[in-house]
Amino acid sequence: MDERIITSIEQSTDDWQYSLRPRRLAEYIGQDKAKQNLSVFVKAAINRHEALDHVLLYGPPGLGKTTLAAIIANELGVNFRQTSGPAIERAGDLAAILTNLQERDVLFIDEIHRLSRQVEEILYSAMEDFALDIIIGKGPRARSIRVSIAPFTLIGATTKAGALSPPLRDRFGVISRLEYYSTAALIEILTRAAQILKIPIEAGGAEEIAKRSRGTPRIANRLLKRVRDFAQVEGLTTITDDIADKALLALEVDRAGLDHTDRRMLDAMIKKFRGGPVGLETIAASISETRETIEDIYEPYLLQLGFIMRTPRGRVVTEAGYQHMGVAYPKANDTPTLFDFENI
Ligand code: ADE
Repeated sequence: MDERIITSIEQSTDDWQYSLRPRRLAEYIGQDKAKQNLSVFVKAAINRHEALDHVLLYGPPGLGKTTLAAIIANELGVNFRQTSGPAIERAGDLAAILTNLQERDVLFIDEIHRLSRQVEEILYSAMEDFALDIIIGKGPRARSIRVSIAPFTLIGATTKAGALSPPLRDRFGVISRLEYYSTAALIEILTRAAQILKIPIEAGGAEEIAKRSRGTPRIANRLLKRVRDFAQVEGLTTITDDIADKALLALEVDRAGLDHTDRRMLDAMIKKFRGGPVGLETIAASISETRETIEDIYEPYLLQLGFIMRTPRGRVVTEAGYQHMGVAYPKANDTPTLFDFENI
């Protein structure tokens, strides 16, 4: 994947990002519905002295799934163990993690839809009965023994709830969907981050960055950092709306928060495929991206903005999408011109 300023892929070496993470539910801005429900479940579990039921968090990348999981562990007053679907290669790796958990600990598995089948099967009895079925020996002498483990809470995170197998999905007692953040929530997040980082920012500056962060705190915080660089080099002591706008234009983040690749995608759909319908694979091939990248990163936000639509026959650019790209919306009976065909 290319170096995108608006990437919402987590960069784990980014300490800056870490220091900004809220540690308590009360500090966590936005996602009110998920937050309110989780706060009830956490309180009830604490009162009963029980492990919290397993939680599945899903939604686009960068919306704070890991942060929320760490907060839940913190609120429960238990250890937070973190791993990811692709990192657990063998069933034995997961068994080792599970047998080392203490009572009521939180085990966070990011990208849980990417667990292998064998690993996933170990999870079933672990989640349901707090037990591991271990096969000892091979062939006709093989036998299975059951080992119990401490009651724990699994928090799974995924960008694709639909990719989770039904038996796994059914074992989560709480399923919570994270939504894109409103501009108002992002302004609050940016104001908080600027305060922690001691970067003076005007309300208009925070608003300009918020509006162009595609509803994603991780992107908002990263843009804040880049805008600060521009402000500093220009000798400004405060981030104003003007410097934010100038910096974001220089970074090719447009007024709706679209970057070079989003616009390339819309441009290809309009010019090569006359606005669609066009299949995801075809779009991906035409701009040299993978289907997964388009599906996980570009498409959700373009759908959210109403710039594209999903139809049974493929993706279509909407009138708002055409307008944003400065191209006239074709009328229903427009026939393709030779020029259109040249671009196919
Ligand atoms: N930083 C990143 N995401 C945040 C959130 N949801 N609330 C507060 N600070 C944040």
